[in-house]
Amino acid sequence: MPKILEKRLIRSPDVFYYKINAPLLSRKAKPGQFVIIRLHEKGERIPLSLADINPEDGTISLIVMAVGKTTTEMSTYREGDDILDLCGPLGQPTPVKKYGRVVLVGGGFGVAPLYPIARDFKAVMNEVVMVMGARSGDLLIYEKEMSEVCDKVLITTDDGSRGIKGVVTVALKEELETSGADLVMAVGPAIMMKFVSETTRPFGIKTLVSLNSIMVDGTGMCGGCRVSINGNTKFACADGPDFDGHQVDWDLLMTRQKTYIREERESFEAWKKRHSHMIVEEK
Ligand code: NAD
Ligand code: FES
Repeated sequence: MPKILEKRLIRSPDVFYYKINAPLLSRKAKPGQFVIIRLHEKGERIPLSLADINPEDGTISLIVMAVGKTTTEMSTYREGDDILDLCGPLGQPTPVKKYGRVVLVGGGFGVAPLYPIARDFKAVMNEVVMVMGARSGDLLIYEKEMSEVCDKVLITTDDGSRGIKGVVTVALKEELETSGADLVMAVGPAIMMKFVSETTRPFGIKTLVSLNSIMVDGTGMCGGCRVSINGNTKFACADGPDFDGHQVDWDLLMTRQKTYIREERESFEAWKKRHSHMIVEEK
């Protein structure tokens, strides 16, 4: 079974880094792909983006925000604990090739999956610029890692406590006006990816977004993750997760993301009642 080799709190109080032993998966996986995990026999399946892939030591890394039932349950797991299943790599890899100047835009903990993507874009001789934003300075993650693989890192915070004051699109627009880009890629909340796409549209710059729709099987069988791209139905798990941001029906995506909000809340509340001692102990 995949074992948690390393676990760290990387953003207080609820964003954790996990390094997991997965030799076969690490040899096949490419940046932009994801895995579906199930913690135990009664666990639900949740998709998680790959935050790093290390075929040399046979591991993958995941960054998980403890925000619902399963992610909070995962936050109580410790180094040495096993995960029942880790299914993947799923989805299509990000199409990494030489574009010229690539601007990556990451929001909150959505910055993490961009780390191996930035490294691969750099490896094929692109100039790589990272725009990373968070609500406040203490919520920024992967600043050091990104500065190691990117030519330039721009930081924004909504409250102005670090870097440029404002959301990521403020810095992105200025960057495009002054230096341009041949490709923009965004990972983060859907509303951020929508506005990144609206920011690049007048510049005519190709814009990739990684869609985080609700997923069940992750292999194109259930239809749960369907999205509308240029009026055509696509499955984010099998056809994506990367799509052209200018062609995404954002309102449909954001409505569908809320489909099970009531059920998710009820199941999380019931879990918290049964496990409150574990949550307090971990944090
Ligand atoms: P958050 O809600 O705090 O937002 C982070 C940043 O996004 C903000 O600081 C801002 O710069 C930008 N942003 C937000 N709304 C915006 C708007 N209307 N216009 C322009 N920019 C805007 O982020 P969080 O709480 O850390 O959550 C991270 C999000 O990333 C989650 O929604 C998660 O689902 C998503 N995520 C997506 C993937 C993926 O593969 N697509 C992977 C990991 C995380
Ligand atoms: Fe079932 Fe994509 S998650 S089709």
